[in-house]
Amino acid sequence: MKKIALVSDHAGYFLKEKILKFLIKEKYDVKDFGCSSEEAVDYPDFGHPLANAVSAGEYETGISICGTGNGINMVVNKHPGIRSALCWNEEISRLARAHNDANVCALPGRYISESEAYLIVKTFLETSFEGGRHERRIDKISLKMY
Ligand code: RB5
Repeated sequence: MKKIALVSDHAGYFLKEKILKFLIKEKYDVKDFGCSSEEAVDYPDFGHPLANAVSAGEYETGISICGTGNGINMVVNKHPGIRSALCWNEEISRLARAHNDANVCALPGRYISESEAYLIVKTFLETSFEGGRHERRIDKISLKMY
């Protein structure tokens, strides 16, 4: 079963709680990396621990949420082996997996509805990487190539 790491800051807290329940209902093995309320926090304090865990291979997939999705996306993308994609609709989510082999799905908690979020997350989790020409391209993302 896919192990999923889930995290948010205060701006994504409401949606994180909804997604947590949704993933449990869908029988995913999910770990909540915080935060634990709508009290203001700094998204890097939560994004880095999730990225460390995904980067270390403890979790196959991460889902991260802040207000816009941008801040937490920037944080997790600093980590080796992380390909985090800002996913704001179903098609972007599908392509993030199929073409980019993204392993973290970053969501803009203040700009998508609950039902949109479920669709984005479900699509992200159920779409496989297409490989082929995309493999060559993702191999060139790492700075060690340049
Ligand atoms: C918090 O107000 C907000 O700045 C944060 O959630 C995020 O959108 C940053 O990128």
